[in-house]
Amino acid sequence: MKSIPVLLLLPVLFSATEGVHNPDLNQTSSEDLDLTVVLDLSSLVRRVDLRFLSVTVDASLASEEKFMFLLGSSKLRMLSRALTPSFLRFGGTRQDFMVFTPQRSLQQDSGSSAAALTCDKLELPPWLEERLKKEWTHQQVLLMREDLRRKYRRVKFTENTVDMLHSFTNCSGMDLIFGLNALLRTADNVWNGSNAGSLLQYCESRGYRMSWELGNEPNSYEKKAGIRVDGYQLGQDFTRLREMMSQSKLYHDAGLFGPDVGQPRDRRTDILQGFLQSGAEAVDAVTWHHYYVNGRDTSLEDFLDPEVLDTLIWKTNEVLETVKLASPEKSVWLGETSSAFGGGAVGLSDTFVAGFMWLDKLGLAAKLGLDVVMRQVLVGSGTYHLVDENLDPLPDYWLSVLYKRLVGPEVLNIEGLHNFSRRKRVRLYLHCAHRQRYRRGAVTLISMNLSHRAVRVSLPARLSSSTVEAFVLQSEQPGEEGLYSRSVTLNTEVLKMVDDQTLPDLKGARLPPSDHLQLPAYSLAFFVFIDAAASACF
Ligand SMILES: *[C@@H]1O[C@H](CO)[C@@H](O)[C@H](O)[C@H]1NC(C)=O
Ligand SMILES: *[C@@H]1O[C@H](CO)[C@@H](O)[C@H](O)[C@H]1NC(C)=O
Ligand SMILES: *[C@@H]1O[C@H](CO)[C@@H](O)[C@H](O)[C@H]1NC(C)=O
Ligand SMILES: *[C@@H]1O[C@H](CO)[C@@H](O)[C@H](O)[C@H]1NC(C)=O
Ligand SMILES: *[C@@H]1O[C@H](CO)[C@@H](O)[C@H](O)[C@H]1NC(C)=O
Repeated sequence: MKSIPVLLLLPVLFSATEGVHNPDLNQTSSEDLDLTVVLDLSSLVRRVDLRFLSVTVDASLASEEKFMFLLGSSKLRMLSRALTPSFLRFGGTRQDFMVFTPQRSLQQDSGSSAAALTCDKLELPPWLEERLKKEWTHQQVLLMREDLRRKYRRVKFTENTVDMLHSFTNCSGMDLIFGLNALLRTADNVWNGSNAGSLLQYCESRGYRMSWELGNEPNSYEKKAGIRVDGYQLGQDFTRLREMMSQSKLYHDAGLFGPDVGQPRDRRTDILQGFLQSGAEAVDAVTWHHYYVNGRDTSLEDFLDPEVLDTLIWKTNEVLETVKLASPEKSVWLGETSSAFGGGAVGLSDTFVAGFMWLDKLGLAAKLGLDVVMRQVLVGSGTYHLVDENLDPLPDYWLSVLYKRLVGPEVLNIEGLHNFSRRKRVRLYLHCAHRQRYRRGAVTLISMNLSHRAVRVSLPARLSSSTVEAFVLQSEQPGEEGLYSRSVTLNTEVLKMVDDQTLPDLKGARLPPSDHLQLPAYSLAFFVFIDAAASACF
């Protein structure tokens, strides 16, 4: 294969329908509306981690340890398996208030080997699952109150919490990352690793393979706990943890990620720079958190606003530049991220419209240079969950499963749509198709239509001669009302589990080769061009 970049033209033709007035189009002549897109099927922009789309469980689930047993639900485990390979990060505000308080002695434990915790042994009986689900709803109200007051009580956790996390991730095929408490500090404001030491020792005695983090959003420790920790000190704390890990047989080469800083805001200088000076060597990847909006103060419009979606670009670039200066080769991850902070936006973060922020974030993050994106949350706290309080999948769960199945880690370039109109309402990303499902050379076009007006995407020859598998996600109800729906259709069929142990077939619609594509209004879609023969995807 010659690797000459193929420049392809992708004109987007507007067929401005009568009565639909579009202020964006007034300034320009109709000729300017033809959009030139540059596609390069011969070289990769970059390659992300195979676990690129990953998930979190918020540490608030351990606020009362019994709720950790929800992770024993066999339905939840089945749903999680469909999202692998992935990391499961256990952390969040409450991780910095959690203290390991073992109930058994290590001697007692060595008797019952890890084999005692086989997958089926730890499964939750249905009656208990029902009870915990009900009680969790009540618990969430208490947790929300605590969040509003920003007064967190210390939470003791036992072996049960790590046993449940390990069994859940191990039996679902996910890789566990456990967030340690960084607010256990000495009088000199140095991290006191003694509690972490006992936890590591316990986990090692059980043979739990897992990775670690230390601290959550250290930039807001003063607000949450009245303690100020600067970046340089935090880097030294990580170095200390790395030393502890290196003395362990099981964890000497395990992953350590951090510092899980909040996103860059205005001119505030972050503690990231200080951290990197002393701690870059200690971590395998640098993590930061990102939310587009405040859950208590947002709207449907924000969720569809291309300007809001684009804020991720400069924040990501700012973090990447900071890391590049201090530690050029270091991988950068979104260690916790979702649509809206403060537990999500009620009626938005768990509905169809949340998919625009989620899919656009996946598209942008891969393209801009992030290697892993951990979605807050898989299940549990807030309204930004993928799986609801009844452990049923929400629209973003289905979107995530499709992403896992269809999108490969190789990112290709598709450029030029950004002056399609000032509002950037059609958003496109291109990856190689997932190798396990599609032949070499196949590509997956990820697309979003945030608009309500007619546009026709005409395809360049390399794509228009290929058979297409289309996976178009839309709300069950049409129009704006449908954006608030908690159910979603795939190629017009509502997605539902067949039963508690079975996902439906997520089949694409085969389209014959064609020179254009239609994306319905407010739709999210994956188009797999099976015979694209992209040389970058061989
Ligand atoms: C914008 O375009 C619409 C429809 O083409 C037209 O009715 C309207 O007068 C134009 N407005 C301006 C300010 O040019
Ligand atoms: C996009 O914008 C650039 C610069 O503003 C302009 O030169 C180019 O012609 C525009 N392309 C289209 C397709 O409108
Ligand atoms: C689950 O645990 C078993 C036994 O320790 C191990 O062989 C396997 O690799 C683990 N799987 C995952 C996904 O961690
Ligand atoms: C660290 O914490 C432990 C309790 O977990 C305590 O016994 C010890 O004195 C602390 N060390 C320092 C230096 O504060
Ligand atoms: C976006 O949705 C509108 C309304 O259904 C549709 O007319 C238009 O063709 C869609 N855009 C694209 C790029 O297909």
